[in-house]
Amino acid sequence: MTAVELSGDGSTVAIHTVATTYALRLDAEAGSVRPVHWGARIGVDALLAVPALPSPHPDTFEAPWEAAEDYPVQGGRAFGPASLGCWFPDGTTGLELRIVSHHATADQFTVSLADRHQPLAVDLHYRPAPGTDVIERWAVVRHTGDTGAILLHRHDSGAWCVPPRDDYRMSHVTGAWSAEGRLHRTPLPTAETHLTSRRGVTGHHANPWVMIDDGTAEEQHGEVWSMALATSGSWRLVASRSHSGRCAVAGGAGHDGVRHELRPGESLTTPLFAGLYTTGGFGAASRAWHTYQRRHVLPHPGELRPVLYNSWEATTFDVTAEGQLALAKLAADLGVEMFVVDDGWFGARTSDRAGLGDWVANPHRFPNGLRPLADEIRGLGMGFGLWVEPEMTNPDSDLYRSHPEWVHHTPGHQRTELRNQLVLDFGRPDVREWAARWLDQLVRDTAAGFLKWDFNRPITEAADPAWTQHAAGVYEVIDRLRATHPDLRIESCAGGGGRIDLGILCRTDQCWTSDNTDAVDRLEIQHGHTQVYTAATMVAWVTDSPNPLTGREVPLRFRFHVAMTGVLGIGGDLTTWSPDELTAAREMVTVYRDIRPVVQHGELHRLRPPHSAMSALQYVHENRIAVFCFRVDADFAPGLRSLPLTALDPEAVYRDEDTGATYPASLLLGPGLPVTLPGGAHASTLVRLHRVAD
Ligand code: DGJ
Repeated sequence: MTAVELSGDGSTVAIHTVATTYALRLDAEAGSVRPVHWGARIGVDALLAVPALPSPHPDTFEAPWEAAEDYPVQGGRAFGPASLGCWFPDGTTGLELRIVSHHATADQFTVSLADRHQPLAVDLHYRPAPGTDVIERWAVVRHTGDTGAILLHRHDSGAWCVPPRDDYRMSHVTGAWSAEGRLHRTPLPTAETHLTSRRGVTGHHANPWVMIDDGTAEEQHGEVWSMALATSGSWRLVASRSHSGRCAVAGGAGHDGVRHELRPGESLTTPLFAGLYTTGGFGAASRAWHTYQRRHVLPHPGELRPVLYNSWEATTFDVTAEGQLALAKLAADLGVEMFVVDDGWFGARTSDRAGLGDWVANPHRFPNGLRPLADEIRGLGMGFGLWVEPEMTNPDSDLYRSHPEWVHHTPGHQRTELRNQLVLDFGRPDVREWAARWLDQLVRDTAAGFLKWDFNRPITEAADPAWTQHAAGVYEVIDRLRATHPDLRIESCAGGGGRIDLGILCRTDQCWTSDNTDAVDRLEIQHGHTQVYTAATMVAWVTDSPNPLTGREVPLRFRFHVAMTGVLGIGGDLTTWSPDELTAAREMVTVYRDIRPVVQHGELHRLRPPHSAMSALQYVHENRIAVFCFRVDADFAPGLRSLPLTALDPEAVYRDEDTGATYPASLLLGPGLPVTLPGGAHASTLVRLHRVAD
């Protein structure tokens, strides 16, 4: 069976993934593309028997295709959220589409529709991502005339329709700065539920993905449909549940009211809106997204992300060559592989009030530039990395003084300052050119192998297209930089986890998940992150105790174990750590480097969520397993606990790499892995298992 199967009569197309099928019925005359199946794998001929939706009675108020169209457009009796809405030059708004053609290749399907009256056409593209259960889709909206601009006020990538079920529930994350990734699992109301960013960036407060189930799915079983949008500007997802009991999730770039002017001959390509179906519960949905990222999204999925040190919490803006070098020597001794100098190395940047935009080393702090420090750090056996925030400027900067017109602004209006900074308009070619040049020069001058690309405030006062096109400009600059410096690795950061999405992950290697480095809070934040994004993207630092942000005291071992479930980093002030702490840290880094392939390239099974009496994560990679257990509160009846594992070959035998104990898989899967945690609060352990025999 090829990945795309078209029925002989051309009425039905089946798009197959590894284990699932998504099928569409094409009604050329009605101009409709309606899903007839999204579930287990099934051949197209069998799907011909699936009845079409009934035509609406001419006298009824109802529209039976509500939440049942793949690309609902504004006009006629389409009362739900339109994926495509516009104003034509003559002031009319409604569309009447017809299918003009369709084209199936072995791995992609495209159906082209055109309006019957106006010069507007749309191509809907579907592509199963090989080796996964993910289907990517996007739309291309085209102005086919030669006069008058068409103003698009909605241009979604499409709507994913979930098959009819008795009930629907939606999973998604909300958050805030330092409180990202809070998972919510709530009944879907008979209404339109909007998740959106109006900030010109992905945002901390929501993330562009959802999971839908019928209310019965659990972590390890049940039907789950999930959708994720690959965009880093403003966005909108609308989960609709109609009165007739249908459910659809529409998604696209831009928030309500944002318009895009489509001039004659122009076209607009929407971001990818990926979707998947699984019967394996929320855990399987997450693993399917992780596999997809490893195979089709991340630029260097085969690599292991380095253990990094980041100086931000240790020095904040007080950056000096001596101070960084003192930290670097200690970091190198712990086994750190990449040393990153954070904010404060450039221009007049000695606080957040000045210097952004002046990307030359601070002449007082680095009279000979950064190269000597970079070379010394490399001499210690580590890579050298730098923090940058290319899209921002402080009004108190040479850049802003010479180019006040470069920031997003509305003429005559106040320029909203947040963290004392303004956002440069990356929609402008001159701004992009400037950024691409200094970034290239900086990487050349310092031979930096790593950039942490930050973005510390939302966009305000932007002109219409900027809400989505700013991000496109950022993509272009990053893509240019990566093409010129193929060995450069980039971390996406936006005041913590404010820019994490499938769009930025196509061109960056990892994300800074949150500015909250409190290990207890981090359990929740990381639980939210891994719902869709792989642990290989999730950078987590071990910082000082008490935590500078929350004041919570947490033992070093717990802090390490939490950070070791993603990409381990260290961010504490190592000059204040005791010899015992440094020794323990060195040992933990060694252990992490040993299990790193299991964590970063393995399959994640969330055995017990963060709020459990004992939460647990299991990573499986080839013949190795890493199990992390965490107990936040003190246990007044401490002792041996059993933790049933999952996803093991039931015939195999596993050996504990630290104690030498052996366990048949039947024991690990049944009664469970024996786990001992000490009695106090913030207890944790890591168990490393190796498959030894059948
Ligand atoms: C926000 C980031 O999330 C922090 O890690 C740090 O880089 C600061 N910006 C620096 O201004």
